[in-house]
Amino acid sequence: MSEVVIIDLVHCRCPQHSACVEKHVKSVSCRSDLGFQIYLLFGPCNQRCNPTGIVHKVPWIERLFSEKNQNVHILDHKTITESIYRFKLAVDQLNLSTVRVFTSANRIHLLEAYQRQLFTEAYLFDHIITSNYCPCPGHVACDSFHAADSEVKQDVSSEVKQDVSSFLQHLPAKGDITILRSTLFTDCFSHGFSTRTGGISSIPTLSSLNLFSSSRRRDPRTLIAENVRRLALKAGFYPRPLNLVKVDHASDVWAMGKEEEPQDYDGIVTNQSGVVIAAPGADCMPLLFTDPVARVIGAAHAGWKGTLMGIAMATVNTMVMKFGSRACDVTVAVGPSVGVCCFTLKREQAADFHSIHPDCVPDMEQSRPHVNIRLATRILLQRGGVLPEHIHDDTAKDRPSVTLCTSCHPEAFFSHVRDGSDFGTQISQSLFLWLCRPPC
Ligand SMILES: *[C@@H]1O[C@H](CO)[C@@H](O)[C@H](O)[C@H]1NC(C)=O
Ligand SMILES: *[C@@H]1O[C@H](CO)[C@@H](O)[C@H](O)[C@H]1NC(C)=O
Ligand SMILES: [Zn+2]
Repeated sequence: MSEVVIIDLVHCRCPQHSACVEKHVKSVSCRSDLGFQIYLLFGPCNQRCNPTGIVHKVPWIERLFSEKNQNVHILDHKTITESIYRFKLAVDQLNLSTVRVFTSANRIHLLEAYQRQLFTEAYLFDHIITSNYCPCPGHVACDSFHAADSEVKQDVSSEVKQDVSSFLQHLPAKGDITILRSTLFTDCFSHGFSTRTGGISSIPTLSSLNLFSSSRRRDPRTLIAENVRRLALKAGFYPRPLNLVKVDHASDVWAMGKEEEPQDYDGIVTNQSGVVIAAPGADCMPLLFTDPVARVIGAAHAGWKGTLMGIAMATVNTMVMKFGSRACDVTVAVGPSVGVCCFTLKREQAADFHSIHPDCVPDMEQSRPHVNIRLATRILLQRGGVLPEHIHDDTAKDRPSVTLCTSCHPEAFFSHVRDGSDFGTQISQSLFLWLCRPPC
């Protein structure tokens, strides 16, 4: 099995450390033909102690390189944060997820703190404390010597978090952030649908403005937070927090400001000013709702399951029941989502859409019929009293479209249907500006 090994060599004041590590490097590097990639981590300390470069001072490292071992790499960037970030990029490029870390007892907390900030549960880490393997007196002394250093650092975790955040803030963006806006909504409601450019996610299927973290994907929460920060600056809601629906593929809606936050919900509705609510989507429909009369906003996430469960009308009904909206005043924008061109389901699932309206499934006779989740949403909304001209979807020809097909436009959108499991996610967000006046 392919594996990545990182060997922490930030122990310039302890000559024994290097000797101890050597044993383990040997045992690993002789298996390098099995696909092991070895990364040697140097710190600013090494550079201070050995301005000419420690690589040439340590015989076994010199040997590794003189053997022209393609599998050995050096991490000696300006900061340990940058070194570990570059390490992550390398691991991702190799599409590997098992990482073995050789370090010392006093450094493990620091490296674990970096792991929490820059990696997710999609990676498997195995920490090996070298002094446990090699309890030579010198090494143990070295560990306790450095332990004194680490006690000075009270809260290594929050320090690392800050270092990583500020490092990510300075990374160059890939492209510019583009926000799609519906001309159906009045200016009272700042809103937008994000696209995939202008962020810092590096994995091809997440690149670059991925806005949703999940334990199964490789973008850590800290990185998502940085992408959200950049979107917030561009969209004008910085530094307000983003209230994102929990994706449950059901039809529960949270009336924010009216009731406790439920465990799971695919919709949020509120009449609070200055609050940002949002819904993710990467084929699933992000839906935005506004009522300029009762002054209420909503955001919902609607995949095919949620559509069948009626999430769109459940959101409208919450606006009506909790905040005094009338369905005929509600306007709805359907964001970028998978079109009928690219979305198929099993026959029995498609049949449920066919029973909403035959037009929702243009080729019911196929083994995997195409399904139009947007049309199903429109039909269900209209049956619930939303006016046809108050729905902005791909049938609205008189407005610039916000309902593009995510699968057909790889340059602009993430798509689960197209990209498989490690896919990124765009969001739609809505901000109720408290400055505006209701229309007369
Ligand atoms: C990466 O690895 C995963 C799991 O091992 C695999 O399912 C996926 O196809 C790989 N992706 C690429 C691009 O090689
Ligand atoms: C929000 O809705 C509640 C319930 O209808 C109402 O009592 C309250 O005044 C509304 N708040 C604003 C800011 O309109
Ligand atoms: Zn398409």
